[in-house]
Amino acid sequence: MASRSRATRQGGRAQAPSGSRRPRGAPAGGAGGGRCALVILAAGKGTRLRSDLPKVLHQAGGDSLLGHVLSAAVAAGIAPADTVVVAGYAAERVAEVAAARGGVRVVVQEPQLGTGHAVLAARDFWSAYDCVLVVHGDMPLVSAATLRGLAAALAAERAGAVLATATPASPRAYGRIVRRRGRVVAIVEERQATPAQRAIRELNAGFYCFRAAPLARALARLGNANPHREYYLTDTIALLAQAGERVAGYPLGDADEILGINDRRELAEVDAVFRRRAARRLMEAGVTIYAPETVTIDAAVEAGPDTVLEAGVHLRGRTRLGRGCHIEAYSVLTDCELGDGVRVKPHSVLEQARVAEGAVIGPFSRLRPGAEIAASAHIGNFVEVKNARIGRGAKANHLAYLGDAEVGAASNIGAGTITCNYDGERKHRTKIGKKVFIGSNATLVAPLEIADEAYVGAGSVITGAVPAGALALGRARQVNKPGWVAQRRAGRAQAQEPEPRR
Ligand code: UD1
Ligand code: CA
Repeated sequence: MASRSRATRQGGRAQAPSGSRRPRGAPAGGAGGGRCALVILAAGKGTRLRSDLPKVLHQAGGDSLLGHVLSAAVAAGIAPADTVVVAGYAAERVAEVAAARGGVRVVVQEPQLGTGHAVLAARDFWSAYDCVLVVHGDMPLVSAATLRGLAAALAAERAGAVLATATPASPRAYGRIVRRRGRVVAIVEERQATPAQRAIRELNAGFYCFRAAPLARALARLGNANPHREYYLTDTIALLAQAGERVAGYPLGDADEILGINDRRELAEVDAVFRRRAARRLMEAGVTIYAPETVTIDAAVEAGPDTVLEAGVHLRGRTRLGRGCHIEAYSVLTDCELGDGVRVKPHSVLEQARVAEGAVIGPFSRLRPGAEIAASAHIGNFVEVKNARIGRGAKANHLAYLGDAEVGAASNIGAGTITCNYDGERKHRTKIGKKVFIGSNATLVAPLEIADEAYVGAGSVITGAVPAGALALGRARQVNKPGWVAQRRAGRAQAQEPEPRR
Protein backbone atom coordinates (compact mmCIF):
# COMPACT_ATOMS: atom_id res chain seq x y z
CA MET A 1 0.00 0.00 0.00
CA ALA A 2 1.47 3.33 -0.96
CA SER A 3 -0.14 6.11 0.99
CA ARG A 4 0.66 6.45 4.67
CA SER A 5 -0.95 9.86 5.13
CA ARG A 6 -3.85 8.77 7.21
CA ALA A 7 -7.21 10.33 7.71
CA THR A 8 -6.84 10.27 11.43
CA ARG A 9 -7.78 12.72 14.11
CA GLN A 10 -4.27 13.08 15.40
CA GLY A 11 -2.81 14.02 12.02
CA GLY A 12 -0.10 12.28 10.05
CA ARG A 13 2.18 9.63 11.37
CA ALA A 14 5.61 10.68 12.53
CA GLN A 15 8.32 9.59 10.11
CA ALA A 16 10.68 6.93 11.32
CA PRO A 17 14.16 8.43 11.62
CA SER A 18 16.02 7.38 8.48
CA GLY A 19 18.71 4.85 9.16
CA SER A 20 17.03 3.69 12.35
CA ARG A 21 18.18 0.12 12.78
CA ARG A 22 15.32 -1.41 14.72
CA PRO A 23 12.33 -1.70 12.42
CA ARG A 24 9.55 0.42 13.86
CA GLY A 25 6.55 -1.44 15.11
CA ALA A 26 8.32 -4.66 16.01
CA PRO A 27 7.16 -5.39 19.54
CA ALA A 28 9.93 -6.48 21.83
CA GLY A 29 10.14 -10.26 21.58
CA GLY A 30 8.31 -10.41 18.26
CA ALA A 31 11.49 -11.39 16.49
CA GLY A 32 11.06 -12.27 12.86
CA GLY A 33 7.40 -11.21 12.72
CA GLY A 34 8.15 -7.96 10.94
CA ARG A 35 6.54 -4.64 11.77
CA CYS A 36 3.36 -4.87 13.78
CA ALA A 37 0.54 -2.37 14.16
CA LEU A 38 -1.83 -2.51 17.12
CA VAL A 39 -5.55 -1.87 16.57
CA ILE A 40 -7.70 -1.30 19.66
CA LEU A 41 -11.45 -1.65 19.03
CA ALA A 42 -13.29 0.96 21.07
CA ALA A 43 -16.15 2.27 18.95
CA GLY A 44 -19.04 0.49 20.67
CA LYS A 45 -21.45 2.27 22.97
CA GLY A 46 -21.67 -0.58 25.43
CA THR A 47 -25.46 -0.75 25.34
CA ARG A 48 -25.59 -3.33 28.12
CA LEU A 49 -23.94 -0.90 30.56
CA ARG A 50 -26.89 1.51 30.16
CA SER A 51 -24.61 4.51 30.35
CA ASP A 52 -23.94 7.82 28.61
CA LEU A 53 -20.23 7.22 29.05
CA PRO A 54 -18.66 5.13 26.26
CA LYS A 55 -17.88 1.66 27.54
CA VAL A 56 -14.09 1.86 27.23
CA LEU A 57 -14.01 4.97 29.43
CA HIS A 58 -15.62 3.24 32.39
CA GLN A 59 -13.19 2.76 35.27
CA ALA A 60 -11.93 -0.46 36.81
CA GLY A 61 -8.84 -0.90 38.93
CA GLY A 62 -8.05 2.80 39.02
CA ASP A 63 -7.97 3.51 35.28
CA SER A 64 -10.29 3.51 32.28
CA LEU A 65 -10.65 0.21 30.44
CA LEU A 66 -8.94 1.79 27.44
CA GLY A 67 -6.19 3.18 29.69
CA HIS A 68 -5.35 -0.33 30.87
CA VAL A 69 -5.13 -1.65 27.30
CA LEU A 70 -2.89 1.27 26.28
CA SER A 71 -0.65 0.60 29.28
CA ALA A 72 -0.35 -3.08 28.33
CA ALA A 73 0.67 -2.01 24.82
CA VAL A 74 3.40 0.28 26.13
CA ALA A 75 4.60 -2.46 28.49
CA ALA A 76 4.80 -4.81 25.49
CA GLY A 77 7.13 -2.37 23.76
CA ILE A 78 4.61 -1.24 21.15
CA ALA A 79 5.20 2.42 20.32
CA PRO A 80 2.22 4.79 20.59
CA ALA A 81 2.87 5.74 16.95
CA ASP A 82 2.18 2.12 15.96
CA THR A 83 -1.12 2.06 17.85
CA VAL A 84 -4.53 3.08 16.56
CA VAL A 85 -7.76 3.32 18.53
CA VAL A 86 -10.99 2.80 16.59
CA ALA A 87 -13.51 5.17 18.17
CA GLY A 88 -17.16 5.72 17.31
CA TYR A 89 -19.64 6.38 20.06
CA ALA A 90 -18.52 9.60 21.86
CA ALA A 91 -15.38 9.53 19.72
CA GLU A 92 -14.11 12.92 20.98
CA ARG A 93 -14.01 11.70 24.55
CA VAL A 94 -12.26 8.48 23.57
CA ALA A 95 -9.81 10.51 21.45
CA GLU A 96 -8.95 12.67 24.47
CA VAL A 97 -7.85 9.62 26.45
CA ALA A 98 -5.84 8.34 23.49
CA ALA A 99 -4.24 11.76 22.95
CA ALA A 100 -3.07 11.79 26.55
CA ARG A 101 -0.87 8.79 25.62
CA GLY A 102 1.25 10.83 23.22
CA GLY A 103 1.14 9.77 19.60
CA VAL A 104 -1.62 7.15 19.65
CA ARG A 105 -3.76 7.56 16.52
CA VAL A 106 -7.53 7.56 16.45
CA VAL A 107 -9.79 6.66 13.51
CA VAL A 108 -13.53 7.09 13.66
CA GLN A 109 -15.79 4.21 12.67
CA GLU A 110 -19.16 5.68 11.76
CA PRO A 111 -21.60 3.93 11.82
CA GLN A 112 -20.48 0.95 13.90
CA LEU A 113 -21.21 -2.14 11.86
CA GLY A 114 -19.28 -4.74 13.82
CA THR A 115 -15.78 -5.75 14.89
CA GLY A 116 -14.70 -6.67 11.32
CA HIS A 117 -15.98 -3.35 10.03
CA ALA A 118 -14.04 -1.62 12.83
CA VAL A 119 -10.73 -3.22 11.79
CA LEU A 120 -11.50 -2.27 8.20
CA ALA A 121 -12.08 1.35 9.27
CA ALA A 122 -8.44 1.47 10.38
CA ARG A 123 -7.06 -0.25 7.28
CA ASP A 124 -5.19 2.82 6.01
CA PHE A 125 -3.30 2.79 9.28
CA TRP A 126 -2.26 -0.87 9.34
CA SER A 127 -2.07 -1.86 5.67
CA ALA A 128 1.60 -0.87 5.37
CA TYR A 129 2.64 -3.04 8.34
CA ASP A 130 3.57 -6.72 8.13
CA CYS A 131 1.25 -7.79 10.90
CA VAL A 132 -1.69 -6.45 12.85
CA LEU A 133 -2.46 -7.06 16.51
CA VAL A 134 -6.15 -6.55 17.27
CA VAL A 135 -7.47 -6.25 20.82
CA HIS A 136 -10.79 -5.14 22.32
CA GLY A 137 -10.90 -1.95 24.35
CA ASP A 138 -13.37 -3.59 26.72
CA MET A 139 -10.87 -6.23 27.86
CA PRO A 140 -8.55 -4.38 30.23
CA LEU A 141 -6.84 -7.45 31.70
CA VAL A 142 -4.90 -8.16 28.50
CA SER A 143 -1.23 -8.50 29.41
CA ALA A 144 1.94 -7.30 27.74
CA ALA A 145 3.09 -10.93 27.66
CA THR A 146 0.05 -11.92 25.60
CA LEU A 147 0.58 -9.10 23.08
CA ARG A 148 4.23 -10.08 22.67
CA GLY A 149 3.35 -13.78 22.64
CA LEU A 150 0.77 -13.41 19.86
CA ALA A 151 3.22 -11.55 17.62
CA ALA A 152 5.97 -14.08 18.35
CA ALA A 153 3.64 -17.03 17.69
CA LEU A 154 2.59 -15.59 14.32
CA ALA A 155 6.22 -15.60 13.24
CA ALA A 156 7.13 -18.92 14.87
CA GLU A 157 4.13 -20.78 13.46
CA ARG A 158 4.32 -19.10 10.05
CA ALA A 159 0.62 -18.51 10.50
CA GLY A 160 -1.82 -16.16 8.77
CA ALA A 161 -3.47 -15.53 12.12
CA VAL A 162 -2.98 -16.37 15.78
CA LEU A 163 -5.81 -15.92 18.26
CA ALA A 164 -5.85 -16.06 22.04
CA THR A 165 -8.16 -18.64 23.56
CA ALA A 166 -9.15 -19.66 27.06
CA THR A 167 -11.13 -22.50 28.59
CA PRO A 168 -12.64 -21.02 31.74
CA ALA A 169 -14.36 -23.21 34.31
CA SER A 170 -17.73 -21.49 33.92
CA PRO A 171 -19.17 -20.82 30.47
CA ARG A 172 -19.46 -17.31 29.00
CA ALA A 173 -21.37 -16.01 25.97
CA TYR A 174 -18.18 -15.77 23.90
CA GLY A 175 -17.28 -16.98 20.43
CA ARG A 176 -16.53 -20.73 20.36
CA ILE A 177 -13.29 -22.02 18.83
CA VAL A 178 -14.06 -24.67 16.24
CA ARG A 179 -11.13 -27.00 15.53
CA ARG A 180 -10.73 -29.74 12.95
CA ARG A 181 -7.93 -32.23 13.56
CA GLY A 182 -6.56 -29.81 16.15
CA ARG A 183 -6.45 -26.87 13.73
CA VAL A 184 -8.58 -23.77 14.30
CA VAL A 185 -11.00 -23.54 11.38
CA ALA A 186 -13.63 -21.07 12.59
CA ILE A 187 -15.03 -18.99 15.42
CA VAL A 188 -18.77 -19.32 15.90
CA GLU A 189 -20.63 -16.65 17.86
CA GLU A 190 -22.89 -17.99 20.56
CA ARG A 191 -26.12 -16.90 18.88
CA GLN A 192 -25.29 -18.80 15.69
CA ALA A 193 -23.76 -21.84 17.31
CA THR A 194 -25.33 -25.27 16.96
CA PRO A 195 -25.98 -27.11 20.24
CA ALA A 196 -22.82 -29.13 19.63
CA GLN A 197 -20.79 -25.94 19.05
CA ARG A 198 -22.26 -24.33 22.16
CA ALA A 199 -20.85 -27.21 24.16
CA ILE A 200 -17.32 -26.22 23.08
CA ARG A 201 -15.53 -24.79 26.11
CA GLU A 202 -12.58 -23.20 24.32
CA LEU A 203 -13.52 -19.53 23.88
CA ASN A 204 -12.33 -16.64 21.74
CA ALA A 205 -10.66 -14.06 23.98
CA GLY A 206 -10.72 -11.29 21.39
CA PHE A 207 -6.94 -10.81 21.00
CA TYR A 208 -5.51 -11.61 17.59
CA CYS A 209 -2.40 -11.19 15.51
CA PHE A 210 -2.92 -11.28 11.72
CA ARG A 211 -0.60 -11.08 8.78
CA ALA A 212 -1.74 -7.83 7.17
CA ALA A 213 -2.17 -8.89 3.54
CA PRO A 214 -4.36 -11.96 4.10
CA LEU A 215 -6.36 -10.01 6.71
CA ALA A 216 -7.11 -7.30 4.16
CA ARG A 217 -8.27 -9.95 1.67
CA ALA A 218 -10.48 -11.68 4.25
CA LEU A 219 -12.07 -8.42 5.44
CA ALA A 220 -12.95 -7.55 1.85
CA ARG A 221 -14.98 -10.75 1.65
CA LEU A 222 -16.84 -10.42 4.98
CA GLY A 223 -20.63 -10.65 4.94
CA ASN A 224 -23.17 -9.68 7.58
CA ALA A 225 -25.57 -12.62 7.43
CA ASN A 226 -26.10 -12.88 11.17
CA PRO A 227 -28.80 -11.82 13.64
CA HIS A 228 -27.07 -8.45 14.30
CA ARG A 229 -26.42 -7.68 10.60
CA GLU A 230 -22.83 -6.93 11.61
CA TYR A 231 -19.49 -7.61 9.95
CA TYR A 232 -17.80 -9.92 12.43
CA LEU A 233 -14.02 -9.97 12.71
CA THR A 234 -14.45 -13.55 13.93
CA ASP A 235 -15.71 -14.59 10.48
CA THR A 236 -12.28 -13.79 8.99
CA ILE A 237 -10.94 -16.90 10.73
CA ALA A 238 -12.97 -19.32 8.58
CA LEU A 239 -12.17 -17.23 5.48
CA LEU A 240 -8.44 -17.39 6.25
CA ALA A 241 -8.58 -21.12 6.96
CA GLN A 242 -10.45 -21.73 3.71
CA ALA A 243 -7.85 -19.67 1.84
CA GLY A 244 -5.22 -22.11 3.09
CA GLU A 245 -3.76 -19.84 5.76
CA ARG A 246 -2.60 -21.50 8.92
CA VAL A 247 -4.60 -20.30 11.96
CA ALA A 248 -3.07 -21.02 15.35
CA GLY A 249 -4.65 -20.90 18.76
CA TYR A 250 -2.74 -19.22 21.62
CA PRO A 251 -3.99 -20.54 24.97
CA LEU A 252 -3.83 -17.82 27.62
CA GLY A 253 -1.79 -18.56 30.70
CA ASP A 254 -3.94 -16.42 33.01
CA ALA A 255 -7.64 -17.29 32.84
CA ASP A 256 -8.57 -13.81 34.14
CA GLU A 257 -7.34 -12.26 30.91
CA ILE A 258 -10.45 -13.39 29.11
CA LEU A 259 -12.69 -11.33 31.40
CA GLY A 260 -14.25 -8.54 29.37
CA ILE A 261 -16.81 -5.94 30.29
CA ASN A 262 -20.24 -5.89 28.74
CA ASP A 263 -22.35 -4.96 31.78
CA ARG A 264 -21.96 -3.51 35.28
CA ARG A 265 -21.72 -6.94 36.86
CA GLU A 266 -18.67 -7.73 34.74
CA LEU A 267 -17.25 -4.28 35.51
CA ALA A 268 -17.34 -5.14 39.23
CA GLU A 269 -15.85 -8.57 38.51
CA VAL A 270 -12.89 -7.09 36.60
CA ASP A 271 -12.41 -4.35 39.19
CA ALA A 272 -12.14 -7.09 41.83
CA VAL A 273 -9.47 -8.85 39.76
CA PHE A 274 -7.41 -5.64 39.60
CA ARG A 275 -7.90 -5.19 43.37
CA ARG A 276 -6.75 -8.74 44.10
CA ARG A 277 -3.71 -8.33 41.85
CA ALA A 278 -2.70 -5.05 43.48
CA ALA A 279 -3.19 -6.48 46.96
CA ARG A 280 -1.15 -9.55 46.04
CA ARG A 281 1.66 -7.34 44.75
CA LEU A 282 1.93 -5.45 48.05
CA MET A 283 1.52 -8.62 50.13
CA GLU A 284 4.46 -10.11 48.26
CA ALA A 285 6.41 -6.98 49.25
CA GLY A 286 5.65 -7.70 52.94
CA VAL A 287 2.49 -5.67 53.54
CA THR A 288 -0.34 -7.05 55.69
CA ILE A 289 -3.76 -6.35 54.20
CA TYR A 290 -6.94 -7.16 56.11
CA ALA A 291 -10.06 -7.72 54.00
CA PRO A 292 -8.14 -7.14 50.74
CA GLU A 293 -11.36 -7.29 48.72
CA THR A 294 -12.32 -3.94 50.29
CA VAL A 295 -8.97 -2.22 49.67
CA THR A 296 -8.16 -0.17 46.57
CA ILE A 297 -4.52 0.08 45.53
CA ASP A 298 -3.55 1.86 42.32
CA ALA A 299 -0.86 0.41 40.07
CA ALA A 300 1.86 2.93 40.96
CA VAL A 301 1.45 2.63 44.74
CA GLU A 302 4.43 1.39 46.77
CA ALA A 303 4.62 0.34 50.41
CA GLY A 304 7.41 -0.91 52.65
CA PRO A 305 7.44 -4.19 54.56
CA ASP A 306 5.51 -4.57 57.82
CA THR A 307 3.07 -1.89 56.81
CA VAL A 308 -0.53 -2.78 57.68
CA LEU A 309 -3.61 -1.78 55.71
CA GLU A 310 -7.01 -2.19 57.33
CA ALA A 311 -10.40 -2.63 55.67
CA GLY A 312 -11.66 0.00 53.26
CA VAL A 313 -8.32 1.76 52.80
CA HIS A 314 -7.76 3.44 49.42
CA LEU A 315 -4.22 4.11 48.23
CA ARG A 316 -4.43 6.10 45.04
CA GLY A 317 -2.15 7.61 42.43
CA ARG A 318 1.54 7.72 43.31
CA THR A 319 1.17 7.14 47.03
CA ARG A 320 4.30 5.76 48.71
CA LEU A 321 4.37 4.35 52.22
CA GLY A 322 7.47 3.58 54.24
CA ARG A 323 8.11 0.51 56.41
CA GLY A 324 5.93 -0.32 59.38
CA CYS A 325 3.17 2.17 58.64
CA HIS A 326 -0.31 1.44 59.91
CA ILE A 327 -3.19 2.76 57.84
CA GLU A 328 -6.38 2.19 59.74
CA ALA A 329 -9.86 1.58 58.39
CA TYR A 330 -11.47 3.74 55.70
CA SER A 331 -8.60 6.16 55.18
CA VAL A 332 -8.06 7.49 51.66
CA LEU A 333 -4.56 8.54 50.56
CA THR A 334 -3.97 10.11 47.16
CA ASP A 335 -0.47 10.94 45.86
CA CYS A 336 0.96 10.98 49.39
CA GLU A 337 4.40 10.16 50.73
CA LEU A 338 4.67 8.63 54.20
CA GLY A 339 7.92 7.89 56.04
CA ASP A 340 8.48 4.83 58.23
CA GLY A 341 6.17 4.03 61.11
CA VAL A 342 3.49 6.58 60.31
CA ARG A 343 0.10 5.82 61.82
CA VAL A 344 -3.03 7.02 60.08
CA LYS A 345 -6.09 6.43 62.25
CA PRO A 346 -9.53 5.70 60.76
CA HIS A 347 -11.42 7.90 58.32
CA SER A 348 -8.59 10.25 57.44
CA VAL A 349 -8.34 11.80 53.98
CA LEU A 350 -4.86 12.73 52.75
CA GLU A 351 -4.04 14.26 49.39
CA GLN A 352 -0.62 15.31 48.06
CA ALA A 353 0.66 15.36 51.61
CA ARG A 354 4.04 14.35 53.04
CA VAL A 355 4.23 12.80 56.47
CA ALA A 356 7.56 12.01 58.10
CA GLU A 357 8.44 9.00 60.26
CA GLY A 358 6.53 8.33 63.43
CA ALA A 359 3.85 10.97 62.89
CA VAL A 360 0.28 10.17 63.91
CA ILE A 361 -2.64 11.36 61.80
CA GLY A 362 -6.35 11.03 62.58
CA PRO A 363 -8.90 9.85 63.27
CA PHE A 364 -10.90 12.09 60.93
CA SER A 365 -7.97 14.25 59.80
CA ARG A 366 -7.81 16.05 56.48
CA LEU A 367 -4.43 16.73 54.91
CA ARG A 368 -4.72 18.74 51.71
CA PRO A 369 -2.09 19.47 49.04
CA GLY A 370 1.11 20.90 50.42
CA ALA A 371 0.65 19.58 53.93
CA GLU A 372 4.07 18.58 55.30
CA ILE A 373 4.01 16.88 58.65
CA ALA A 374 7.41 16.43 60.31
CA ALA A 375 8.53 13.42 62.34
CA SER A 376 6.51 12.51 65.43
CA ALA A 377 3.97 15.29 64.94
CA HIS A 378 0.30 14.62 65.76
CA ILE A 379 -2.62 15.78 63.69
CA GLY A 380 -5.89 14.78 65.32
CA ASN A 381 -9.65 14.77 65.08
CA PHE A 382 -11.22 17.14 62.58
CA VAL A 383 -8.01 19.03 61.88
CA GLU A 384 -7.52 20.35 58.34
CA VAL A 385 -4.03 21.19 57.10
CA LYS A 386 -3.37 22.82 53.75
CA ASN A 387 -0.11 24.10 52.28
CA ALA A 388 1.41 24.10 55.74
CA ARG A 389 4.51 22.69 57.43
CA ILE A 390 3.97 21.23 60.86
CA GLY A 391 7.27 20.89 62.76
CA ARG A 392 8.80 17.89 64.50
CA GLY A 393 6.76 16.77 67.48
CA ALA A 394 4.19 19.57 67.08
CA LYS A 395 0.56 18.80 67.93
CA ALA A 396 -2.78 19.94 66.60
CA ASN A 397 -5.08 17.39 68.10
CA HIS A 398 -8.60 18.75 67.74
CA LEU A 399 -10.80 20.85 65.47
CA ALA A 400 -8.36 23.22 63.78
CA TYR A 401 -7.66 24.76 60.37
CA LEU A 402 -4.01 25.35 59.54
CA GLY A 403 -3.69 26.80 56.04
CA ASP A 404 -0.68 28.56 54.44
CA ALA A 405 1.13 28.18 57.72
CA GLU A 406 4.33 27.09 59.37
CA VAL A 407 4.31 25.60 62.84
CA GLY A 408 7.67 25.16 64.57
CA ALA A 409 8.87 22.04 66.37
CA ALA A 410 7.14 21.02 69.62
CA SER A 411 4.47 23.70 69.37
CA ASN A 412 0.95 22.97 70.56
CA ILE A 413 -2.06 24.19 68.64
CA GLY A 414 -5.17 24.30 70.81
CA ALA A 415 -8.58 22.96 69.87
CA GLY A 416 -10.53 25.19 67.53
CA THR A 417 -7.55 27.25 66.34
CA ILE A 418 -8.07 28.86 62.95
CA THR A 419 -5.49 30.48 60.70
CA CYS A 420 -7.40 33.18 58.83
CA ASN A 421 -5.35 32.93 55.67
CA TYR A 422 -7.72 34.60 53.22
CA ASP A 423 -8.71 38.27 53.21
CA GLY A 424 -11.26 37.86 50.45
CA GLU A 425 -8.71 38.57 47.75
CA ARG A 426 -5.36 37.07 48.66
CA LYS A 427 -3.88 34.31 50.79
CA HIS A 428 -1.42 35.19 53.57
CA ARG A 429 0.94 33.12 55.68
CA THR A 430 0.98 32.47 59.40
CA LYS A 431 4.38 31.72 60.93
CA ILE A 432 4.47 30.08 64.32
CA GLY A 433 7.85 29.46 65.96
CA LYS A 434 9.12 26.59 68.12
CA LYS A 435 7.55 25.52 71.43
CA VAL A 436 4.69 27.98 70.96
CA PHE A 437 1.44 27.37 72.83
CA ILE A 438 -1.72 28.48 71.07
CA GLY A 439 -4.72 28.41 73.42
CA SER A 440 -8.04 26.93 72.36
CA ASN A 441 -10.21 28.73 69.87
CA ALA A 442 -7.56 31.24 68.84
CA THR A 443 -8.17 33.17 65.64
CA LEU A 444 -4.84 33.95 63.95
CA VAL A 445 -5.30 36.63 61.30
CA ALA A 446 -2.60 36.38 58.62
CA PRO A 447 -0.12 37.72 57.68
CA LEU A 448 1.16 36.97 61.15
CA GLU A 449 4.29 35.91 63.01
CA ILE A 450 4.32 34.35 66.44
CA ALA A 451 7.89 33.92 67.66
CA ASP A 452 9.45 31.01 69.61
CA GLU A 453 8.06 30.01 72.99
CA ALA A 454 5.25 32.60 72.90
CA TYR A 455 1.79 31.92 74.36
CA VAL A 456 -1.55 32.94 72.91
CA GLY A 457 -4.46 33.04 75.33
CA ALA A 458 -7.53 30.96 74.58
CA GLY A 459 -10.23 32.70 72.57
CA SER A 460 -7.87 35.41 71.31
CA VAL A 461 -8.12 37.15 67.98
CA ILE A 462 -4.48 37.81 67.10
CA THR A 463 -3.81 40.35 64.38
CA GLY A 464 -0.27 41.51 65.16
CA ALA A 465 3.15 39.94 65.65
CA VAL A 466 3.82 38.21 68.99
CA PRO A 467 7.44 38.47 70.24
CA ALA A 468 9.37 35.47 71.55
CA GLY A 469 8.40 34.37 75.04
CA ALA A 470 5.43 36.80 75.28
CA LEU A 471 1.82 36.06 76.23
CA ALA A 472 -0.61 37.57 73.76
CA LEU A 473 -4.20 38.15 74.76
CA GLY A 474 -6.58 39.47 72.19
CA ARG A 475 -9.98 39.25 73.81
CA ALA A 476 -12.30 41.27 76.05
CA ARG A 477 -11.35 41.13 79.72
CA GLN A 478 -13.74 39.08 81.81
CA VAL A 479 -16.08 41.03 84.12
CA ASN A 480 -17.77 39.41 87.16
CA LYS A 481 -20.78 41.16 88.76
CA PRO A 482 -21.10 39.74 92.30
CA GLY A 483 -24.65 39.13 93.51
CA TRP A 484 -26.14 39.96 90.11
CA VAL A 485 -28.59 37.05 90.07
CA ALA A 486 -30.09 37.81 93.50
CA GLN A 487 -30.41 41.50 92.63
CA ARG A 488 -32.30 40.71 89.50
CA ARG A 489 -34.72 38.44 91.34
CA ALA A 490 -35.33 41.11 93.99
CA GLY A 491 -35.95 43.74 91.32
CA ARG A 492 -38.65 41.59 89.73
CA ALA A 493 -40.43 40.99 93.05
CA GLN A 494 -40.64 44.75 93.73
CA ALA A 495 -42.26 45.43 90.41
CA GLN A 496 -44.70 42.57 91.27
CA GLU A 497 -44.20 41.23 87.92
CA PRO A 498 -45.12 37.65 87.39
CA GLU A 499 -42.26 35.34 86.44
CA PRO A 500 -41.87 35.44 82.69
CA ARG A 501 -43.45 32.32 81.22
CA ARG A 502 -41.18 29.79 79.77
C1 UD1 B 1 -16.58 -10.29 20.69
C2 UD1 B 1 -16.31 -11.44 19.74
C3 UD1 B 1 -16.42 -12.77 20.48
C4 UD1 B 1 -15.43 -12.79 21.64
C5 UD1 B 1 -15.66 -11.58 22.53
C6 UD1 B 1 -14.55 -11.53 23.54
C7 UD1 B 1 -17.06 -10.65 17.55
C8 UD1 B 1 -18.14 -10.72 16.55
N1 UD1 B 1 -17.27 -11.38 18.65
O1 UD1 B 1 -17.92 -10.37 21.14
O2 UD1 B 1 -16.11 -13.85 19.61
O3 UD1 B 1 -15.58 -13.97 22.37
O4 UD1 B 1 -15.65 -10.36 21.77
O5 UD1 B 1 -14.64 -10.36 24.29
O6 UD1 B 1 -16.07 -10.03 17.35
N2 UD1 B 1 -16.52 -2.56 18.51
C9 UD1 B 1 -16.20 -1.58 17.61
N3 UD1 B 1 -17.01 -1.36 16.54
C10 UD1 B 1 -18.12 -2.10 16.30
C11 UD1 B 1 -18.44 -3.12 17.23
C12 UD1 B 1 -17.63 -3.35 18.31
O7 UD1 B 1 -15.20 -0.87 17.79
O8 UD1 B 1 -18.79 -1.84 15.29
C13 UD1 B 1 -15.65 -2.78 19.68
C14 UD1 B 1 -16.40 -2.62 20.99
O9 UD1 B 1 -16.32 -1.28 21.44
C15 UD1 B 1 -15.65 -3.57 21.91
C16 UD1 B 1 -15.11 -4.63 20.97
O10 UD1 B 1 -15.18 -4.10 19.66
O11 UD1 B 1 -14.58 -2.95 22.57
C17 UD1 B 1 -15.89 -5.93 21.04
O12 UD1 B 1 -17.24 -5.68 20.72
P1 UD1 B 1 -18.42 -6.35 21.54
O13 UD1 B 1 -19.70 -5.88 20.94
O14 UD1 B 1 -18.23 -6.16 22.98
O15 UD1 B 1 -18.21 -7.90 21.12
P2 UD1 B 1 -18.65 -9.17 21.94
O16 UD1 B 1 -20.10 -9.37 21.80
O17 UD1 B 1 -18.11 -9.08 23.31
CA1 CA C 1 -17.24 -7.47 24.56
